[in-house]
Amino acid sequence: MYTVPQLASFTPDELDRATAELTSALAEESAAVKTDADYKVFRDRWMARKNGILTQINDTWLKAAPGPQKRDVGQRVNQIKGKVEQVVAETEKNLTAGGAASRLESERLDISLPGIRRKIGAEHPILRTMQEVVGVFKAMGYSVEDGPEIETDWFNFEALNFAENHPARDMADTLFVAGQEKKRRRDQYLLRTHTSPVQIRAMMKNPPPLRIVCPGKVFRHDAPDATHSPMFHQLECLAVDTNIKFSDLKGTLDHAMKMLYGPQVKTRFQPSFFPFTEPSAEIYISCPFCGGKGCRICKQSGWIEMGGSGMVHPNVFRSVAEHGYNPEKISGFAFGMGVDRLAALRWGIDDIQLFFQGDMRFLEQFA
Ligand code: PHE
Repeated sequence: MYTVPQLASFTPDELDRATAELTSALAEESAAVKTDADYKVFRDRWMARKNGILTQINDTWLKAAPGPQKRDVGQRVNQIKGKVEQVVAETEKNLTAGGAASRLESERLDISLPGIRRKIGAEHPILRTMQEVVGVFKAMGYSVEDGPEIETDWFNFEALNFAENHPARDMADTLFVAGQEKKRRRDQYLLRTHTSPVQIRAMMKNPPPLRIVCPGKVFRHDAPDATHSPMFHQLECLAVDTNIKFSDLKGTLDHAMKMLYGPQVKTRFQPSFFPFTEPSAEIYISCPFCGGKGCRICKQSGWIEMGGSGMVHPNVFRSVAEHGYNPEKISGFAFGMGVDRLAALRWGIDDIQLFFQGDMRFLEQFA
C-alpha cells in the first residue's frame, strides 16, 4: 500500500515522479472502494486532517522544501490536493449511484408472479342444511332455541318420561361422563342423545303457547359407518298451545318437506313409539330422487325416513307443570329430524362420515 515517501530532492523531475506515483495509488485505491465502509476508510486515509495523506505531503514535502523550491512544491501540493478532493468526491458519487442501482434491484417487484390467494371460507354443508330448515320454520313463526350438549339424566331422559329401565339409559347406548357414581341418577351428566331435552328447557323458560325449533349436535354410543356416527345432528321442533292436534303436526311437516324438497314431495306417518310422545309416528317422505318409484338412495322402497314425531305425552307437561303447562288445558306436537340425513339426501352423499372428516376436497365442493 502507498506510503508518502521522503523526497530525496525537489527537482521538477523528482516532483513529477513522486506526483505520478501518488496519483496512480489514488486511482487504484478509489477503484477498490465497493461499500460505504470502504469509502469512509478511503476518504479518511487521504483527507483526514490528522495524518491523512494530504496532511502528510504538506508536512514531508512542502515544509521540508528548501526556500527556493517552496513555491514550486507549494503549487504541486495544491494541485495534488485538488486532484485528491476530486477523486474522493467522484468515488462517493459512483458509490451512491451503484448502491442505488443494487438497492433498486433487490426491491424490484415482479408483477408477473401470482399473488397470495386467500381461500374463501364456506358454510359446512351440515350448517347450511340446518340454516335452511330453520329458515323454513322461522317463516312459520317459530323461534330458535339452544341447549347444552352435556345434559343431566333428568333433562335427557327423566323429564321426557323415559321409564326407569329404558334401554337408552344403558351405558352401552349413551355416553355418560365418568366418575359420577356417587351422584343421584337424575343429576348425572351425559352427552345428550337427542335434542328433545331442549323441549323441557324451552318450556321452563317460557309459558305456553310455544313454537320453537332447536338445531344441534347429539351423541350416541354408535360405531361410525356410512349411516351412523357417534356425533350427529338433529333438528327438534315443539309446538304447544290450546287445541293442537295431530293434523297440525302432519300439516306442518308436510309444508316443511315441500319447502325443502319441492311441492311434489309426499309425507307419510308410520306408527312408532317414543316415551315422550303419544301417539308417536316415524316421518317418511317420498324419495325426492325417484319420485317414489324406488331407487338406490331409497333402497327401492320409494320412501325415506326423516325422524320421529308425535303428540307431546301428558307426563312431559307434568315435568314442567310449575311453569304453566297443564296437560288438561294444553296440547302439543313435537318432532326430531336427522340433519345429517337431510344433508346427505340433498346432495346425494352416500357416506355421512364425509361430513366429519374435514377433507378439503370434499368440503370445497360446497364453497
Ligand atoms: N328424540 C327422538 C329421537 O332422537 C325424535 C323425536 C323427537 C321423536 C320429538 C318424537 C318427538 O329419535
